[in-house]
Amino acid sequence: MLEIVSVPLPEREYEVRIGPGLLHRAGAEIAPFLHRSRVAVVTEQNVAPLHLETLSTGLAAQDIEMVSLVLPAGESTKAWPEFTRCVEWLLEQKIERRDVVIALGGGVIGDLVGFAAAVLRRGIRFVQVPTSLLAQVDSSVGGKTGINAQQGKNLIGAFHQPALVLADTDTLNTLTPRDFLSGYGEVAKYGMLGDAKFFEWLEEFGPKLLASDQSARVEAVRRSVQMKADIVLRDETEQGDRALLNLGHTFCHALEAATGYSDRLLHGEGVAIGCALAFELSSRLGLCSQEDPSRVRAHLREMGMKVDLSDINGDLPDADALLDLMGQDKKVVDGQLRFILARGIGTAFVTADVPKDAVLTLLQDALAQR
Ligand code: GLY
Repeated sequence: MLEIVSVPLPEREYEVRIGPGLLHRAGAEIAPFLHRSRVAVVTEQNVAPLHLETLSTGLAAQDIEMVSLVLPAGESTKAWPEFTRCVEWLLEQKIERRDVVIALGGGVIGDLVGFAAAVLRRGIRFVQVPTSLLAQVDSSVGGKTGINAQQGKNLIGAFHQPALVLADTDTLNTLTPRDFLSGYGEVAKYGMLGDAKFFEWLEEFGPKLLASDQSARVEAVRRSVQMKADIVLRDETEQGDRALLNLGHTFCHALEAATGYSDRLLHGEGVAIGCALAFELSSRLGLCSQEDPSRVRAHLREMGMKVDLSDINGDLPDADALLDLMGQDKKVVDGQLRFILARGIGTAFVTADVPKDAVLTLLQDALAQR
């Protein structure tokens, strides 16, 4: 049950290999990329006990020696101190220009290690081994790497494409239901933004994904990665279409900031709520039918996801303050907030033409229901 999605960027073509058992076969998968039988693996404290030994055994099967660094878990790792530690460790390990670094973990590790690989010796190759659903369908593919700054998330980084992505769907079995569902927010996003048929498929197969159906999981990851690859091919550095991947993210980033990037709201949960708000806004602006936001909400609810602002525990700022936080978003261009709105499920588009009052009223109404 191996699926392969190719990302044929000129000079930097790579494959995303998706299926169960890939960690066990990591040696055979990675060996063709090596000039010598040694790799450096960077991971984090929660992932290491679950998957590092399997990876090590998989590499040893091809006589590949592995050195590893285990960083603390959590978003706060994605900052200068742990980044510096990672780069210095790679230098101490005498990782050379032609060597390969492996990022084993979720989005935090993938982003940080990818950025380290981008700058170490002016760029070395790296392999993404994403272990969360969110990382498998989004952050491990497309070459966005980086760390957070005091001033905001992901503000320091580089585009650096991996040499290979190994998305072992067995690792999804070790996720908590909440983490799995958070990743599902990004999966559903792909259907909502560009593929109505995929959204229909998710309406039918979503519950099977939750019930650990292996082939449904492989198919959901494959279709998500294929959509991301297609968009990245059209617009690698986000001059246009790539912004579509940010459906729901303008609302999400404001809500994440308002909840202090804490576990009151996981990223994918914020994406789901943000998508529901983006569809509601699209409907209010007469861009899509009233049924579309209802259908989006019904599906997210059926999956047991957060959908409304009332699903977020604790206080939230008022609508003006939330709007203000939206203005801090990276998607602000020349001071204008850009939104991803939709003409229907599967037909999202980017626009700067959104009346501020409509957003404010939407937020006021959403807060009033709390
Ligand atoms: N996660 C959005 C992107 O890769 O562009």
